[in-house]
Amino acid sequence: MGLESIYTQILTEHNNSNRNKHHIDSPTAVLKGVNPSCGDEIELELREKDGMIEDAAFTGIGCAISQASASIMIDLIKGKTKEEALRLANLFFGMIKNEVKDEAELEDLDEAVALKDISHMPARVKCAVLGWHTLEDAINGEQKPE
Ligand code: FES
Repeated sequence: MGLESIYTQILTEHNNSNRNKHHIDSPTAVLKGVNPSCGDEIELELREKDGMIEDAAFTGIGCAISQASASIMIDLIKGKTKEEALRLANLFFGMIKNEVKDEAELEDLDEAVALKDISHMPARVKCAVLGWHTLEDAINGEQKPE
């Protein structure tokens, strides 16, 4: 599948629906993430209960890649444990850096695999990882001792 059709698929499914772009009730973590290359910002909201990500959503602005990637991530992490969400984020980083290429391994990323070709577009990598780094910071920040 060519890059154009991958973009189309992602934009159609995620950008048009905006279903993951809103505020959530009673978030337990809210964190802003900034793409230093362009200054675009998103704000990630998570509600955790018993170590599980019960609900998640984001708001903010950015290019189509950043928005679609964040939306796909939200779909993927809802209902997962924090540890599993971190594992998926690391797998995503590995894919985007072109370090993890094994298709069986990448299957866990589900729709996020559609962003694989971003690894060949260095200027867009920061867009693709914006939501995922914000997630990582939100979870790791919470795990720091008080
Ligand atoms: Fe700003 Fe992609 S250009 S997030």
